[in-house]
Amino acid sequence: MSDLRESLNKTREEFESKIKEITSSADIESLRVEYFGKKGKLTGVLRGMGSLKPEERPEAGKMVNEVRAKMEEVFAQTQSKMKAMESAHKLKREVIDVTLPTSFSGAGSRHPLNMAIDEICDIFLGLGYSIGEGPEVEYDKYNFELLRLPKGHPARDTQDTFYINENILLRTQTSPMQIRIMENQKPPIKVVCPGKVYRQDTLDATHSPVFHQIEGLVVDKGVTMGDLVGSLQLFAKKLFGEKTEIRLRPHHFPFTEPSVEVDLTCWKCGGCGCNVCKGEGWIEVLGAGMVHPEVLENCGIDSNEYSGFAFGIGVERTAMGRYGIDDIRLLYENDVRFLKQFK
Ligand code: PHE
Repeated sequence: MSDLRESLNKTREEFESKIKEITSSADIESLRVEYFGKKGKLTGVLRGMGSLKPEERPEAGKMVNEVRAKMEEVFAQTQSKMKAMESAHKLKREVIDVTLPTSFSGAGSRHPLNMAIDEICDIFLGLGYSIGEGPEVEYDKYNFELLRLPKGHPARDTQDTFYINENILLRTQTSPMQIRIMENQKPPIKVVCPGKVYRQDTLDATHSPVFHQIEGLVVDKGVTMGDLVGSLQLFAKKLFGEKTEIRLRPHHFPFTEPSVEVDLTCWKCGGCGCNVCKGEGWIEVLGAGMVHPEVLENCGIDSNEYSGFAFGIGVERTAMGRYGIDDIRLLYENDVRFLKQFK
């Protein structure tokens, strides 16, 4: 019993003098192993209890527990002191000078389609238009019926799409925005509406089942075809340069009368004919026309008092021309090597 007391005290004294010398968490860890580990010194002393007589054990147990508790307390204090000291050091060492110039270069770039949309919308903003947006999941009524494309109309065949149910579909054009705007706003109206549209189509270098359009709509008293032509001329020159001309070809859309398809002089060759315009000198960029009186009436606007024009610009085509992109698929593949070029 007195042997046990003696070796306990010796162990404790030695431990206490050693722990005073400690300067790091690594030291404290080796001290832990040296004393409290499986083969540690304190553990060894405790093992010696096995040889005590049974009546000595309760007292010895109490003594051992006291010493151990004391040692563990000192240990815990020193351990947390070390931790605090080391983290204070670390903070000091890793202090960040927020005034240093950054070397960060990981910022992404804007997508060419968004760049084209913004560029086009900016031009129209400058002409006093506002910007509207509407749902891609659209009522059949807005996408077709109120635009004079009743169910079963043959012109629907070229715009097949995904139907959510009989009356709701993925919009095939941004033209339903004409209806939405006119239902909610009375003339004068001057608005452009960019957005995604969907059509049953096979993906190739020039076609995609999902693409973008920008719808334009102007309704007021005395709006004429001349206003439409003038606005589009201005738009073409602002986007592709002063030399750009537009050409109108008669066309048919059920919701405009008269209707036209609008070509721009080729942005690559300027009109002489090249591989981009397939020798034509012209590239088709949009559809347009005077808003059909019935469409105005469908939205509660008096067609005797008001008239208007509308146009739909193909964004992909314009972006491809503007930035020299020769395959539409590049726009959807999210290849950073491609996207990085638009920084
Ligand atoms: N919505 C037509 C299309 O997608 C384009 C268009 C818009 C034509 C506005 C006339 C007026 O083909």
